[in-house]
Amino acid sequence: MITDPPRAEGFELRALSEADAPDLLALFSDPEVCAFMDIEPLETEFEALDIIDWAEAQAAQGLGVRWGVRRAGEGRLIGTVGFNRIERSRGRWGEIAYDLARDQWGRGVMSTLLPAIIARGFADFGLLRLEAMVTVGNERSCALLRRMGFQQEGVLARRGYWKGQAWDQLVFARLAD
Ligand SMILES: CC(C)(COP(=O)(O)OP(=O)(O)OC[C@H]1O[C@@H](n2cnc3c(N)ncnc32)[C@H](O)[C@@H]1OP(=O)(O)O)[C@@H](O)C(=O)NCCC(=O)NCCS
Repeated sequence: MITDPPRAEGFELRALSEADAPDLLALFSDPEVCAFMDIEPLETEFEALDIIDWAEAQAAQGLGVRWGVRRAGEGRLIGTVGFNRIERSRGRWGEIAYDLARDQWGRGVMSTLLPAIIARGFADFGLLRLEAMVTVGNERSCALLRRMGFQQEGVLARRGYWKGQAWDQLVFARLAD
């Protein structure tokens, strides 16, 4: 199943479900976490449920998957990771996405998790290309992707529009070996 969680030592990954709404609200109500994301900081659990509904619908159609991240044996959701998009009909590519609670930055969490996500994309989903869209200025995300062997391919000027303004986005990609 597309939602089968990748294994990463020290962490538990589980496809997002409605029970995660309070934790997701806590994660995405932090303006620092959302600074470069295409959402306003969340204010209500209903908004968190909307995101979960979207993730579940993507998974049901085989078009994407988002796992909640916890440290093994701990209850708190510290982030999410997965594929915003999986294209297997007119291409073989996926778009990865990830986020961590602010107090988890700088500790190597995402660098530990992404190899398992990348392997899922290439080996299990049979993708030939993984990409990530990064808002200009999100240096942590750029550094993470470069560490993971992604290369910047270009800039999509004014590709995004949210929070009342246009945003340039960087395209990063890693190809199957
Ligand atoms: C993008 C994001 C996940 C990157 O987080 P991060 O903490 O920089 O990345 P990692 O979890 O890989 O941690 C790397 C850091 O841990 C350190 N580290 C410690 N142990 C490490 C290990 N075993 N392996 C790699 N790095 C390790 C690294 O030196 C680095 O620290 P530094 O930033 O001080 O140089 C985070 O900034 C975030 O959630 N941002 C908000 C959401 C967002 O913008 N998402 C991306 C949208 S495109």
